[in-house]
Amino acid sequence: MSEVERQVRIFDTTLRDGEQTPGVSLNVEEKVEIARQLERLGVDVIEAGFPIASPGDFAAVQAVARQVRGPVIAGLARAVKGDIDRAWEAIREAERPRIHTFIATSPLHMERKLRKSPEEVLAMAVEAVRYARSLTPDVEFSAEDATRSEPEFLARVVAAAIEAGATTINIPDTVGYTLPAEFARLLTYLREAVPALAEVTLSVHCHNDLGLAVANSLAAVQAGANQIECTINGLGERAGNAALEEVVMALRTRSDLFGVRTGIVTEQIYRTSRLVSSLTGVPVQPNKAIVGANAFAHESGIHQDGVLKDRRTYEIMTPESIGLPKSRLVLGKLSGRHALRQRLQELGYTLPEEEFQRTYEKFLALADRKAEVADEDLIALVEGEVVSVPATYELEYLHVASGNTTVPTATVRLRRGEERLEEAACGDGPVDAVYRAIDRLTGVHTRLTEYSLKAVTGGKDAVGEVTVRIQDDGQVFIGRGASTDIIEASARAYLHALNKLLYERSRGAR
Ligand code: KIV
Ligand code: ZN
Repeated sequence: MSEVERQVRIFDTTLRDGEQTPGVSLNVEEKVEIARQLERLGVDVIEAGFPIASPGDFAAVQAVARQVRGPVIAGLARAVKGDIDRAWEAIREAERPRIHTFIATSPLHMERKLRKSPEEVLAMAVEAVRYARSLTPDVEFSAEDATRSEPEFLARVVAAAIEAGATTINIPDTVGYTLPAEFARLLTYLREAVPALAEVTLSVHCHNDLGLAVANSLAAVQAGANQIECTINGLGERAGNAALEEVVMALRTRSDLFGVRTGIVTEQIYRTSRLVSSLTGVPVQPNKAIVGANAFAHESGIHQDGVLKDRRTYEIMTPESIGLPKSRLVLGKLSGRHALRQRLQELGYTLPEEEFQRTYEKFLALADRKAEVADEDLIALVEGEVVSVPATYELEYLHVASGNTTVPTATVRLRRGEERLEEAACGDGPVDAVYRAIDRLTGVHTRLTEYSLKAVTGGKDAVGEVTVRIQDDGQVFIGRGASTDIIEASARAYLHALNKLLYERSRGAR
């Protein structure tokens, strides 16, 4: 196969390592929603979770395995039988299941964490791979903390894992310690020391502690890696993992240098990034490469002039190539259902009739307040409709009195089925007053641990998007709400999180 044809597989671990981002917690429905989008994005492997970690994780991996077709579905397991059994149980109904088993190989991890000798670790790796292979033909083995391992010992473990039946060998830079040239040297050494590596997939998994996860992954591709593990928006433990969108667009934009291709439908990148940000509640920084709000914005006069004359002067890739919406059609209150449906389809959203109807009603209400509805507003509306759980409570009416010399007061009316419930409350500010009224109405008292507000577009009539995190019994629930009225957006976000909490409680009660 020529260099130009070499395919690099994209292994997405947003639902596993990405979910290890502090403060992130996704329910089963949200994980399935993300997995379906990853399928549209064209990833080769979805690591859906760590089934032994919790019953919730198990249920999510199983749901993804049952419902998502196309990509390989991987479940993570430590190199012990109990983990492997649980992972297999969760993924066995997948069209293409993979067991991903791992054990640490660095002196520090073996001595201090595992309290095992190198020989014991090697034996555990072999046994785990052999056992996993008895369950499924697709087995990945990872040598955790590989970049701080003794290269000779690492090579022995890798050779033994292949011998035991591993079909993918993953070399993780678990703590984001290595540098690109050094990582490339390690992979080159391993390929020479373990000729059998040529017969399996050589994968890398880089963390971003020194901001080098993407650079290290790209260096690995040049050194022969043919699978990259990464996450959407670079989510993950601590400083995160290699960002999928950056790795993929670097490989594509500099294909002259890399001579490889991926199966990623790059036009789905922006939508995937938005969805993950919205469901995890982790915002994308404005200057983030590829998917940040400023990634294709040109501020200085010289740059604007250049771009107007020829975009290539200051753009190395097109916004269209990542599916960034560019308004060609401005929607307003006279735009009909047809125009809205068409624009949504252009943005990649084909909604079922009921969901479309709700979005259309929200669109009309928005267009009443805002003369021109931008693509970003529409995305916020649609994603506000991605109600991942049944809404026990819905906001019907909200009135707030606030000012610099008044005690903020809120009156809130909620609908619960056919019932209408109304309450008033005072607070430290208008949002606090609304949240207190909602707490009284629902009888649910939680801890609000985070509140953030961002304007979706520019201008005084911009749609405000509120994200909240509430905590109940150690569990975190994230809620989002969008409206041109930031108090209403705040109420919607809070109710969204509360509805998720109530849904979770009702499931627990079953
Ligand atoms: O960072 C790491 O080493 C991991 C392994 C489990 C692959 O996430
Ligand atoms: Zn990791």
